Amino acid sequence: MYRAPRGTSDILPAEQQYWRYIEERAAQICHLNGYERIDTPVFENAGLFVRTIGEGTDIVEKETYSFPDRGGVTMTLRPEGTAPVCRAYIEHGMYNLPQPIRLYYIAPIFRYERPQAGRYRQHQQFGFEAIGDGDPAIDAEVIDMGWRLFLTLGIGRLTLRLNSIGCRGCRPGYIEALKGYYQTQTSNLCRECKARLVRNPLRLLDCKEEGCRDIARSAPRSIDYLCQGCQEHFELLKRYLGLLKLPFEIDHCLVRGLDYYTRTVFEVQPEGEEGAQSVIGGGGRYDDLIGELGGRPTPAVGFAAGIERIILNMKRQGIPAPSNPKPSIFICYLGDEASEEAIRLVAEIRGSGTAATIASGSKSLKAQLRQANSLGMSIAVIIGEEEVKGGVVIIRDMIEGEQRNVPMDEAVGEIKGILKSRLPLV
Ligand code: HAM
Repeated sequence: MYRAPRGTSDILPAEQQYWRYIEERAAQICHLNGYERIDTPVFENAGLFVRTIGEGTDIVEKETYSFPDRGGVTMTLRPEGTAPVCRAYIEHGMYNLPQPIRLYYIAPIFRYERPQAGRYRQHQQFGFEAIGDGDPAIDAEVIDMGWRLFLTLGIGRLTLRLNSIGCRGCRPGYIEALKGYYQTQTSNLCRECKARLVRNPLRLLDCKEEGCRDIARSAPRSIDYLCQGCQEHFELLKRYLGLLKLPFEIDHCLVRGLDYYTRTVFEVQPEGEEGAQSVIGGGGRYDDLIGELGGRPTPAVGFAAGIERIILNMKRQGIPAPSNPKPSIFICYLGDEASEEAIRLVAEIRGSGTAATIASGSKSLKAQLRQANSLGMSIAVIIGEEEVKGGVVIIRDMIEGEQRNVPMDEAVGEIKGILKSRLPLV
């Protein structure tokens, strides 16, 4: 028996209502803020991600799905959405348009991770990017949009954590200070952190091992090493977030798992939770990324959230998603002639814009009505030999249990009338 690959899942019909609801809400927020949808390929040249996410990161070192294609070029299944959007920005000359360019996406992401609740090998990300403006007001806009998404979905008890990790100019000074501090702590570091100290010191602050977390708490703080430009940027951002009434806390250990960030980094997490797999959304500024990809230096900022984690949090907090409309008309028939009338009628009902389901096979009327009942249908239309002869159909109200004959050519109008009378009064 084949099963879905480890870390992936089928989204069955019963789950779909969450997906549609979240995707609709996400798109609505984007449109309200002037963000337009972009779709990029599921795979890209491997170099795109090595160059941007960073060679020393877990994602690039251990988690990409990479393979040589038949032409011998190494491809990687998209492990995140930002680098492809920036590649598209450069490739399509979007820098010639008025800036910033505001884009959003809803796309599958692939990371070879150790699967557990909230962490999968394929997940779906909703993300947005504002490219071409360094103004902290855009950082605030992006953070506000992410926060608002969770609010409109009804998810409460969230914490917004914020930090600034400086720029190319001031970060080297900070890294030196960090290294100096950690060199005095090497005997207490986990094995991975000993390697991080050499390869990617910033990532030391990100370690989830309890001992390393204690050490990180007393480490030098990036905000104490910001140059004047970064300091002013951070101060303004905090002010704007205050204006927008977004409650945030500064987290000196927040550095994020991708190397491309500059200045602003932020994450949203359920209150009191700490593991990386509980982060529901995150993002930040990446002013050097487009330059690294060969474009002209272009500041940018963005955010992404995993749909599966949003659903997990909605369910934990008992938040339902509105269910998708289902057909409420069921057509039953008995005999060959009736089956032809039924096929014609169901097409007419659907053509008029009303969803309907038709029985199949040659079940007894009782079995057909039982099926209509178990599908939760509110109206059954019954056509037998007698009805065909008389040019009528039986319309049965499955809720009240009443039924009556209606001329065949009035059936659609009658059904619509019943459905309309049942609409909740507003
Ligand atoms: P990220 O933090 O790696 O950021 O991923 C964004 C979100 O995707 C996470 O907060 C989480 O909700 C979800 N996520 C990540 N990995 C998994 C997984 N294995 N299983 C389930 N959900 C997961 C980025 O990818 C950046 N591109 C975000 C960004 C956009 N930065 C700037 N613009």
